[in-house]
Amino acid sequence: MIAPSTNNSAPAVQVEHLTVSYGPSPALLDISFQLEPGQLVGVIGPNGSGKSTLIKSILGIMKPDLGEVRLFGVPSEKARRSVAYVPQRGAVDWDFPVTVEQVVMMGRYGQIPWWAWGPSHEDRRHVDDALQTVRMEKFRHRQIGQLSGGQQQRVFMARALAQGADILLLDEPFAGVDAATERALLDVLDSTKRAGRTLIVVHHDLATAAEYFDSLLLIKQRLFAFGPPQQVLQPELLSEVYEGSLKAFEHLRNVANGGRS
Ligand SMILES: Nc1ncnc2c1ncn2[C@@H]1O[C@H](COP(=O)(O)OP(=O)(O)O)[C@@H](O)[C@H]1O
Ligand SMILES: [Mg+2]
Repeated sequence: MIAPSTNNSAPAVQVEHLTVSYGPSPALLDISFQLEPGQLVGVIGPNGSGKSTLIKSILGIMKPDLGEVRLFGVPSEKARRSVAYVPQRGAVDWDFPVTVEQVVMMGRYGQIPWWAWGPSHEDRRHVDDALQTVRMEKFRHRQIGQLSGGQQQRVFMARALAQGADILLLDEPFAGVDAATERALLDVLDSTKRAGRTLIVVHHDLATAAEYFDSLLLIKQRLFAFGPPQQVLQPELLSEVYEGSLKAFEHLRNVANGGRS
């Protein structure tokens, strides 16, 4: 695995008074938090609460109305190379005729100089390493449209790893994958974290959130809570944010009491 390139004492991610709108009312309002490097952080909140908008703001592709995002001390719009993005599956055109290997090589394009004829040995090595890490090397010549949902997620994870970015943003990577794939992906996220990278993962399943993440961000337009899972997964807080629409309530009561699934 590629070692993180940044050796900076600034926080990996610093969000300050972030306010973002698509229309008249803000999707995110006055969000502030900061993350030290080497953490696996979950983003939770109901549908439409602004989770994907937060990811896009950290990525630097949404312009805030107010506030700012800094990555290792650099404004996010100038720090695109330090961050990699694994989009929500619905946001990708799976009929696009590219192979697994080509998708992962796209992660290297930022590093390939314009005068080069093609990928270098080093680019190829990063692509091979990334495909091995997610165990997709046997599928390298397969068209992406001919993969299962879980395999597609692993390919996009490989693309993010091949990019060598220190911060990885994943939008609902476990949506629509089977339990074995979820476990395999989680192992990749864990080993990526242990290599010193920072991962921010939008997650829809509150029942597994405490087990998977070091800390959680609970958002619904505003940041309702940020901290260790046991601190964030409080029934009172969740019923306020989810407005009682929560199925896994009894289970979460156990989590809040310090129990683990
Ligand atoms: N492209 C867009 N144009 C207009 N409104 C949008 C757009 N994307 C998201 N929104 C709105 O912003 C809010 C937050 O959306 P989003 O960040 O996608 O939430 P989540 O990922 O938590 O489901 C929602 O009210 C949504 O309808
Ligand atoms: Mg979303």
